[in-house]
Amino acid sequence: MKPNRLQHFLTLTDLPSADLLAIVQRAMVLKQDPGVAYSKPRKSLGLVFEKASTRTRVAFEVAMAQLDGHCVFLTSEASQIGRGEPIADTARVISAMVDCLAIRTFAHSNLEQFARYSSVPVINALSDDFHPCQLLADMQTFMEHRGDITGARVAWIGDGNNMCQSYIKAAAIFDFQLHIACPEGFEPAATLVEQSTTQVTLGQDPVAAVRHADLVVTDVWASMGQELQQSERETAFANFQVNRELMSYADRDSLFMHCLPAHRGEEVSGEVLDAPDSVVWDQAGNRMHSQKALLEYLLQS
Ligand code: CP
Ligand code: NVA
Repeated sequence: MKPNRLQHFLTLTDLPSADLLAIVQRAMVLKQDPGVAYSKPRKSLGLVFEKASTRTRVAFEVAMAQLDGHCVFLTSEASQIGRGEPIADTARVISAMVDCLAIRTFAHSNLEQFARYSSVPVINALSDDFHPCQLLADMQTFMEHRGDITGARVAWIGDGNNMCQSYIKAAAIFDFQLHIACPEGFEPAATLVEQSTTQVTLGQDPVAAVRHADLVVTDVWASMGQELQQSERETAFANFQVNRELMSYADRDSLFMHCLPAHRGEEVSGEVLDAPDSVVWDQAGNRMHSQKALLEYLLQS
């Protein structure tokens, strides 16, 4: 398993399904045997983050250290990006010095521009539209707890945001049934839903979405960049909290996931987040193993 050309990872569908599954399975192997390292010279990963991050950044930095490589971390404020250097120029300059780039940004088109001008693989470390690295960890976590996800019933409750849209792509790739419940006006992109009608249903009823689910997933109501909409969103999402009552409609063995950071008492109650069927801490820890497997895949040459 090895990309035969310059391979970016901007969304899950950038990679063949078999390679994605192999990366998730490889993450499980690396979790058991973390001692795999690249040969010299040490590889470098450039991290360009225009939004805050805890998990994604730590996962990349630790993964590169374990692979005997290293990271160079840049924010827009601390680099010339914040002073208006064009993405095309920044991408050409940084990619001339590093082996791979991970970008966390706002518009997904920023990432596409980075990829167009970069001479090394570009990884989406989260954009307004997609968060594919998180999905690698989520798939790994489900498989570790429950085995094959093929045919499973997954409920997405809340905002039709970057995580929801990544679940839509994952449903088609990993072949699970995704039942989405969003308030009116906060749905995922219609074109994405239309491309996956075999696997995806979209409605406004959280109970209908959660009924018999093997996995229930939610995320914050206001994503990064939407802070000014917080109170408007709290009103719109008031009936979309994942709490014990809603979880009672799920399968008895249902898991709960949240990409984190979570707001206890908003999109999820504290008791659901801390319940035994919540696997959010495994899910967060798996970010490192799955991003390490992704780096290993993209950097081999
Ligand atoms: N889930 C996630 O991507 O977390 P961070 O924003 O902390 O990286
Ligand atoms: N939807 C959230 C995910 C954070 C990891 C956001 O974009 O802020």
